[in-house]
Amino acid sequence: MSELVVRRLLIDLETPLPRHWCAGDPFRTAFFNALSMSFPVGEQFFIDSVRNGLKALPSELQDQYKAEVQGFIGQEATHRRVHGLFNKHLEKQGLVNDWAPRAEKNMQLLAGTNPRHALAITAANEHFTAILAEWMLRNHDMLDGCEPRLKTMWLWHCAEESEHKNTAFDVYTALGGSHEWRIKWFRRITFVFLADTLRQTVNNLYHDGTLWQWRTWKSAAGFLFGQRGLVRQTFKPWRDYLRIDFHPNQQASDLSSRWLASNTSAYTPVAAAA
Ligand SMILES: [Fe+2]
Ligand SMILES: [Fe+2]
Repeated sequence: MSELVVRRLLIDLETPLPRHWCAGDPFRTAFFNALSMSFPVGEQFFIDSVRNGLKALPSELQDQYKAEVQGFIGQEATHRRVHGLFNKHLEKQGLVNDWAPRAEKNMQLLAGTNPRHALAITAANEHFTAILAEWMLRNHDMLDGCEPRLKTMWLWHCAEESEHKNTAFDVYTALGGSHEWRIKWFRRITFVFLADTLRQTVNNLYHDGTLWQWRTWKSAAGFLFGQRGLVRQTFKPWRDYLRIDFHPNQQASDLSSRWLASNTSAYTPVAAAA
């Protein structure tokens, strides 16, 4: 069981953002903007799934997981709020969020189903965010040159994603969720997550007017497939999830705690939300 601290991020999210806030790079900016657009809706779904999963546990197990689930909810609720403020700037810049309404529609299909389904979907998404977070924390220098307050926002979110990566998986297991369904949903979510990320990134580039520029796709190739590229470095940890004996803790590292320890001026710890 992990102890999860909820932290209030101390950054300015009111001053307008430069259009290409990620080191003047349209592709990387569009990619991170796309991810952020999915967070308020996605993270609300994760909160609801884990909360409903906890309620469905026998009372002795509820006691065991209650504090961790509260911490998880508090962290995800803070992420939603912060990314909601960030996303308002994107809207003002003329970007159009098509991902969130599509995700909301898909989520409605799960209404009334066994809570294990939503939890397996959450655990799969949390694996994605955890490996992405680990990659960003390891390659944080790749965010040098980005708007400093936004570099802090992304690395704070990454540190907490890495910190709470066990929660949905553990509640799913405690509820008796099977390996078979865990993998079924993981394969489906892999397809949906990659397709949605690509669609929204292209959509952002289109509205930005940089979709057909050579530098955009040159940057994409390096960012995704270069020596330290996202696809290249996350494929193995992605595949690990398929193993029957997989647990998110097997991929633990100290990058998250190290970032949190050396950036204490960026946040204030607050009490976990219920
Ligand atoms: Fe989050
Ligand atoms: Fe998360």
